[in-house]
Amino acid sequence: MRRVVSMTMVLIALACSSAVAGSGSGAENKTVAASPVNTSSPALEADVKRSMYAVKVFTGRLQSELVQAMQAGGPTNAIAVCNTRAGKIAAEVSKKQNFTMKRVSLKNRNPDNAANEWQRPVLREFELRKQNGEPMKDLIYADIVETAVGNQFRFMKAIPTGRVCMKCHGTKIEPAVKARLEKLYPDDKALGYSVGDIRGAFVVTRDMIR
Ligand code: HEC
Repeated sequence: MRRVVSMTMVLIALACSSAVAGSGSGAENKTVAASPVNTSSPALEADVKRSMYAVKVFTGRLQSELVQAMQAGGPTNAIAVCNTRAGKIAAEVSKKQNFTMKRVSLKNRNPDNAANEWQRPVLREFELRKQNGEPMKDLIYADIVETAVGNQFRFMKAIPTGRVCMKCHGTKIEPAVKARLEKLYPDDKALGYSVGDIRGAFVVTRDMIR
């Protein structure tokens, strides 16, 4: 697998106008200039923009459903939103945008959300970048990678842990919530988080037509 275009640690000033941190990469890589606007790869730039938009739409929809369900019946009730709606919302948003979208984590609750072999290093890198003081909103990665079946656009954006998340991902979980989670997810690793931690990342991929 060869990286065709890489934009690791770079983020185009899209929604935000923050400064951009560049990164080096392997010798075989054609590294895109770490400039605020990536003019050398319009395809990458367009896909990054679409990914950012999809993440925003997804987050907005999931959060409003989550908050509504919490208000209606507390966290035990809201588990259903994450359990059944998160995947559906992601699928709907993906379909509209013609790419795949999901959430992954190094400490996942649902086994389907475990980060795979290329996502794990990105998440570890996000942790390092966060330790180095980079704001959570800038923890973004984008690449175009050559795979066996053609080029693939890959995008990841860190998901911060907020206060509302603590009810189901924190250290002190209500017994009823805990019981429900244990029943649904016997192999749950997504507990013990604190506010401000990286909970995981959004992943957007698109297989590119040659
Ligand atoms: C009401 C309980 C509840 C709350 C509140 C909650 N989550 Fe979750 N979260 C879940 C459940 C249940 C899953 C498993 C979803 C699935 O089966 O795909 C999950 C899964 C996730 C995943 C996918 C990775 C994994 O561990 O499987 C991420 C990322 C995530 N949650 C982030 C958050 C964030 C960020 C917040 C706060 C904004 C939050 N969650 C609030 C219950 C909750």
